[in-house]
Amino acid sequence: MKAQIAVIPGDGIGPEVVEQALLALDKVGERFGHEFTYKTALAGGCAIDAAGTPLPQETLEICKASDAVLLGAIGGWKWDSLPGDQRPERGLLGLRAGLALFANLRPAVLFEELADACPLRPELVAGGLDLVVVRELTGGIYFGERGRKDTPTGRAAFDVELYSEGEVRRIAEVAFSLAMKRRKRLTSVDKANVLESSRLWREVVTDVAKGYPEVALSHLYVDNAAMQLVSSPKQFDVIVTNNMFGDILSDEASIITGSIGMLPSASLAQGNFGLYEPVHGSAPDIAGQDKANPMAAILSIAMMLRYTFGLGSEADAVEAAVQSVLRKGFRTGDIHRGEASLTLVGTREAGQLIAGEI
Ligand code: IPM
Ligand code: MG
Repeated sequence: MKAQIAVIPGDGIGPEVVEQALLALDKVGERFGHEFTYKTALAGGCAIDAAGTPLPQETLEICKASDAVLLGAIGGWKWDSLPGDQRPERGLLGLRAGLALFANLRPAVLFEELADACPLRPELVAGGLDLVVVRELTGGIYFGERGRKDTPTGRAAFDVELYSEGEVRRIAEVAFSLAMKRRKRLTSVDKANVLESSRLWREVVTDVAKGYPEVALSHLYVDNAAMQLVSSPKQFDVIVTNNMFGDILSDEASIITGSIGMLPSASLAQGNFGLYEPVHGSAPDIAGQDKANPMAAILSIAMMLRYTFGLGSEADAVEAAVQSVLRKGFRTGDIHRGEASLTLVGTREAGQLIAGEI
């Protein structure tokens, strides 16, 4: 197979973890006989510096002309004081909207080797944790009408949460199909006791469920879901929710694995196109120091192989390589707590070890 990948290293530790992810992808190419070519593009803070905008038109063009996108991380202190519409994060939102990446898959997996990193009591996660948050990514309050007004009592501001039936239906379809490939349990999270948009969400999800009789669907209010995630996380298989709730719950889900440096994500459009990125941010405090954990970026490559290219064995090989390096006791700083039995490694060494295993 031949494929072109748009590579957006971004800011902070983005470039260094992306470098290791591409090393892994090159190894996959070598071992399985595929040819991956890369086109680098700018987005985020570095694009503001170089081109005066967080998402240059050229970047969107490069992404559209590619089969998939790999993104490192975006943002940093340097750009934190810019006004809302000029911040690096606009670049990310622009990519999501511009590439129609409506389905965001954020797996939260507690690796057996890292069970000690979980902040919950061991009995709550005994036997491991393996859930995925399916977050609607191009609608809702993130993209609704917003504005400011002057009122007699002072300034006011608003952001509108609006979902169309079609938007809910297509994300529900993604979540149900994913549940079918997993443990066939789907939890839809909303706030239907208060919000009209959530009542429509629930109606549509319930309707889509008719096409998936094997999937056990349940509904939770978001406040309850936040609580259940830490009190009985093992009940969850697939969680589907809107843009805003998904933002919040996916952070909560990721931290109960104890290792945000390990978690990949996929943002999918209709068809096979997708953008893949580690869940962690740009971590400017450790950027350029060879300290970042490249595993989330490398595992994002596994998701790309699986979801965009349909290369399941190749994806398995990448995941197995990461697991094997962990099993041999190698850890980057974020998952090393001074254990004498474990070997502390830097970004590059971790990447090379994983490439070697592939
Ligand atoms: C995320 C991030 C983004 C979001 C920010 C950086 C705009 O928190 O991907 O979860 O809110 O979607
Ligand atoms: Mg977030």
